[in-house]
Amino acid sequence: MTERLEPSVAYADLDSLIARLNTMATWVSAEADGITELDHGLQCAAELAATAPDDEALQIAGLVHDIGHGLCHIRDHDVVSAEAVRGVLGERVAALVGLHVLAKRYLVTTDPDYRARLSPISVASLAAQGGDLSESEVQAFEARDHWREALMLRRADESAKVAGRDVPGLDSWLPALARVAAGV
Ligand SMILES: [Fe+2]
Repeated sequence: MTERLEPSVAYADLDSLIARLNTMATWVSAEADGITELDHGLQCAAELAATAPDDEALQIAGLVHDIGHGLCHIRDHDVVSAEAVRGVLGERVAALVGLHVLAKRYLVTTDPDYRARLSPISVASLAAQGGDLSESEVQAFEARDHWREALMLRRADESAKVAGRDVPGLDSWLPALARVAAGV
């Protein structure tokens, strides 16, 4: 079993979380060439707005899913990101964020087409993240709350790595962020 680092950040309020997202506009993405960390989150949220238009919390989970990048080893960023947003955005958003690496491993194990579409960076990080799931791990994943939406987030994640793609900016997500935070 891979040892996990302790989560190091938990945002105290929505303003702090939004400030962090703005900072991500100045960082090169760890997952794709030619885009920033914020671009990647915005593209992921835009994908989910198209594929899950009635699930605002899932869209917001897509926006913030990599908020832990730069705070920890890449191997631990799913758990660190989940803990960072839990207090402000709630249990469901945190659960979806926390499942996005396990969802990748599930899809790699169960969907050959998905494996073929992984970016080179995503392939490289797969081994450090634990690689394929065993049969019992696949069954355990399918028993978790929100597992189907976690797969939607993961597929959006893979599609959110396009340099120059024009998607709505962070300002357009502020009302949705406020609504999800208000529902916590
Ligand atoms: Fe991502």
